[in-house]
Amino acid sequence: MKEKEEKYKELITQISALVAGETDEIANMANVAAVLHETFGFWWTGFYRVEKEELVLGPFQGPIACTRIPFGKGVCGTAWAKAETVIVPDVHKFAGHIACSSASNSEIVVPVRKNGKIKAVLDIDSTAFDTFDETDRIYLEQIADLL
Ligand code: SME
Repeated sequence: MKEKEEKYKELITQISALVAGETDEIANMANVAAVLHETFGFWWTGFYRVEKEELVLGPFQGPIACTRIPFGKGVCGTAWAKAETVIVPDVHKFAGHIACSSASNSEIVVPVRKNGKIKAVLDIDSTAFDTFDETDRIYLEQIADLL
């Protein structure tokens, strides 16, 4: 647990510096996906961006994924509709989960806001069950706020 917290704290310093000199949000999302993926060795790490009534696949690391998710659908669409982070310890028990990969067993989705409005979600999948907890939520929400 402590090790994870330490990693997140270092990441926040690193990401703050990374995004400070760049205004393009896709470029920043790309680097954030890469640094999170590499640091923690997640299965899939990436963003879906809000485009009208759908989420559209954005920068990510990991295997190919579905490209569009409607409002309120799947874990991503649920986090968007509820406007809050959703932690799923076992995706097989989440009604409506969209399985982009059969290897994924747990997931966290964190809304990314701009001027209070959700502009994207950060989605992370793990092959292990029950990977994500309050520590992940707290730090990933801080990372989302840097974008
Ligand atoms: N599992 C997600 C879909 C996106 S993939 O995990 C990359 C969901 O249920 O919204």
